[in-house]
Amino acid sequence: MTEAILLVGGQGTRLRPLTNHTPKPLLQVAGSSFIRHQIAKLMEAGVEHVVFATSYLAQLFEEEFKDFSHELAISYAVEEAPLGTGGAIRNAGRHLRGSADDAVLVLNGDILSGLDLRAVLDRHRERQADVTLHLTRVDDPSAFGLVPTDGDDRVLAFLEKPRTAEEIVTDQINAGCYVFRRSVLDEIPADREVSVERETFPGLVADGRRVFGHTTDDYWRDLGTPLAFVHGSADLVTGLARSPLAPRPGEALVHATAVVDPTARITGGSTIGPHAVIGARAEIHRSIVGRGVEIAEAAVVHESVVDHDSSVGAGSVLREAVVGCHTHIGAHNELPAQLRLSCGMRVPAGGLRLNATAAACSAVH
Ligand code: GTP
Repeated sequence: MTEAILLVGGQGTRLRPLTNHTPKPLLQVAGSSFIRHQIAKLMEAGVEHVVFATSYLAQLFEEEFKDFSHELAISYAVEEAPLGTGGAIRNAGRHLRGSADDAVLVLNGDILSGLDLRAVLDRHRERQADVTLHLTRVDDPSAFGLVPTDGDDRVLAFLEKPRTAEEIVTDQINAGCYVFRRSVLDEIPADREVSVERETFPGLVADGRRVFGHTTDDYWRDLGTPLAFVHGSADLVTGLARSPLAPRPGEALVHATAVVDPTARITGGSTIGPHAVIGARAEIHRSIVGRGVEIAEAAVVHESVVDHDSSVGAGSVLREAVVGCHTHIGAHNELPAQLRLSCGMRVPAGGLRLNATAAACSAVH
């Protein structure tokens, strides 16, 4: 039996306010919650049992899957207090059904990748590895912890973020997908917070255990930040990234119940949620517009997320913005790039401008 653990207990602080009420893996990307894309990928790879390692808003995962009737068994390992990635893996390991030598897939709950999961499982078994890590190559290695390997793909070290050019010895980084031999996973302490990246893996390498890298150039994106999140969703819609649940590639994914004016332009892999209303000449590019959102005429929404039941007034401009749920932005606002608006905010018409055309003073002097 092939089994998997999905690490989905993090608070997703970098995606607030979207994660205020919804854990990151349950946020909608390209028309489905991200975790459903991952589940579909696991099933495609022949996984029959998955354990969700949950903590933050744990009950919402059980709600999401209460009617799940596919050929996949789901177990829940709930942490009272977050155990870190290593502690979470060990805690979830209690629910596994296989034997000590079986291979167990472990996936971070926020990585969108084109990795062939069957291929990494096969390589792990062929090499009789203790752990096999998916590694991806990055353009700017200075921003990441690095994982050099030798000519046989054996992991040599887990290096902290480099501080000098000499310390950049490879462009390979941990891609957040691992295969563990079950008995190795059972060695991780389960009674305290443990980081798999900072403690477990370096410890295994230091002890001379069989830790291998599986390096690929497939599509790979960590969806942990707002901009990465909107781009990941857009890439699924345009077909750059693949998921068994992704729609047929196109410029936009518009829910059947959304109402879109024919003069509106929706491009770059944008998603328009159920019951959203998009006005005349609105321009929505590489963005996620949630359920029940109203985007008024001539509004511009670029690389942004507008969470459910919010609105953007006529002529307002959003770039790389994150708008929490039930937030209303009046007409003719121009939001500074990367602004985050908390849930339930109200921005009056003309309240925010980036240039000298601020509205006339309405106060009585
Ligand atoms: P940020 O708060 O924005 O850094 O996001 P995050 O909480 O998701 O943390 P991070 O991106 O580092 O986590 C990587 C993956 O591990 C995510 O899928 C998290 O859900 C998961 N994760 C992180 N910490 C824990 C934990 O303590 N327990 C469990 N079960 N999962 C965790």
